[in-house]
Amino acid sequence: MSQIKHRKLVLGAYLSYGTGHHAASWRHPDAQADGAQNIGHYVDLARTAERGLFDFMFLSDTPSVFNDDRDGYGSRVVVLEPMTLLSALAMHTTHLGLVATASTTYKEPYNMAREFASLDLISGGRAGWNMVTSSKSDAAYNFGLGAHPDHGDRYRRASEFFDVVTGLWDSWDDEAFARDKEGGVFYDPARRHVLGHKGEFFDVRGELNISRPPQGYPLIVQAGSSEDGRELAARTAEVVFTAQSDLASAQEFYRDLKERLPKYPRLNPDLLVLPGLCPFVGATDAEAQQRFEELQGLIHPRLGVSMLSDLVGGFDLSSYDVDGPLPGLPPSNGNQSRRKLIEQMAEGLTIRELYQRLTVARGHVVMIGSYRTVAEQMAEWLTTRAADGFNIMPPHLPGGLTEFVEHVVPELQRLGVYKDAYQPGTLRTKLGLARPGSRYSEEG
Ligand SMILES: Cc1cc2nc3c(=O)[nH]c(=O)nc-3n(C[C@H](O)[C@H](O)[C@H](O)COP(=O)(O)O)c2cc1C
Repeated sequence: MSQIKHRKLVLGAYLSYGTGHHAASWRHPDAQADGAQNIGHYVDLARTAERGLFDFMFLSDTPSVFNDDRDGYGSRVVVLEPMTLLSALAMHTTHLGLVATASTTYKEPYNMAREFASLDLISGGRAGWNMVTSSKSDAAYNFGLGAHPDHGDRYRRASEFFDVVTGLWDSWDDEAFARDKEGGVFYDPARRHVLGHKGEFFDVRGELNISRPPQGYPLIVQAGSSEDGRELAARTAEVVFTAQSDLASAQEFYRDLKERLPKYPRLNPDLLVLPGLCPFVGATDAEAQQRFEELQGLIHPRLGVSMLSDLVGGFDLSSYDVDGPLPGLPPSNGNQSRRKLIEQMAEGLTIRELYQRLTVARGHVVMIGSYRTVAEQMAEWLTTRAADGFNIMPPHLPGGLTEFVEHVVPELQRLGVYKDAYQPGTLRTKLGLARPGSRYSEEG
């Protein structure tokens, strides 16, 4: 199996929702409570990430309200539209990659190709597309659909979507535009290509009205861990964002995904696996633990109970004593395996203790400890082939990011697992990934 050579940690800064990954982050004493929609705050965050040599910042997204709370206690209900936000941040940063999530279920390839090609041009080759099929069924009702399309249909559409979008990015050869003032020739018509795609889901003639992006294609990121998700990643992705809660399951996912790669004609033989990581850090292990508990204590019981009700399959727990046990639950046609896991975990715990445990990082690994302890654990994930890097999900912002940059990054550098400076070039070049040739060129 081929390996990406650098073997240093690749780091993304997961900056969705502006106040941090923890459910109570917006109540932290230092939080910018309106951070999700505050451009000045986002500029500061992006610059901090760049100071920490992060490879990219990352925005998750769904085209509907993220309904983990309906009672007024959760902050994740309003955000900025990612492409608009990243275009603005491109003007305030130099090296930082700019990765936005966009759904193949609720967009059209032509719009998507234009948006990401524009962001790549605006940012000088720093755009990345996190390709998702969307898990939130609420989105269906914003697009005239009666229901969220089936899992299998969503993934078939995603696969075709990828082919159309990359085809559109190849509309113009890299050398198509002479812009020869003296001769009066602007472009070479032989270097312009009509896609003419007709498939199961899309009928797209082309061409795109934007030249080939600086990176050829923006960096292709994928998030989705089912069988279909892994196959799509193996065929298309250069970076995979995944939720892994412990070292052993991360190693298993890493191995499984990399073993699938040789089946496909890929541009880059390898891909980078980045689990999400929610780090609670401090000068000592005890201080980190204390900070963790402080934030946990800020989860309003109404929010905790609402999130827990959602996790157990939509059973309303609000009439039960929060300091009493989880009641017996009626049958649900929701996620059975998760329900069983929660029921087992609930033994001996109160409802409050249970939601505190379950809502910390929502499936992503949590590391609590001193700067050194967390850096060592991160290095272990790299060297034992559980991860090529992490999407860092600071529990609260801006403090959780600033502290990571000022204290954990130097520890990682001391351990020799993190870069000391940015490499020149585009996002893809910095990650050691080849620029895709056009399907119309000889090498492509
Ligand atoms: C780590 C991770 C992050 C995801 N982020 C998003 C997101 O930001 N927006 C979204 O609509 N779906 C997101 N998804 C959901 C996927 O798009 C997908 O539709 C859903 O999880 C089903 O994928 P799977 O069954 O292959 O895991 C994410 C999934 C994973 C595993």
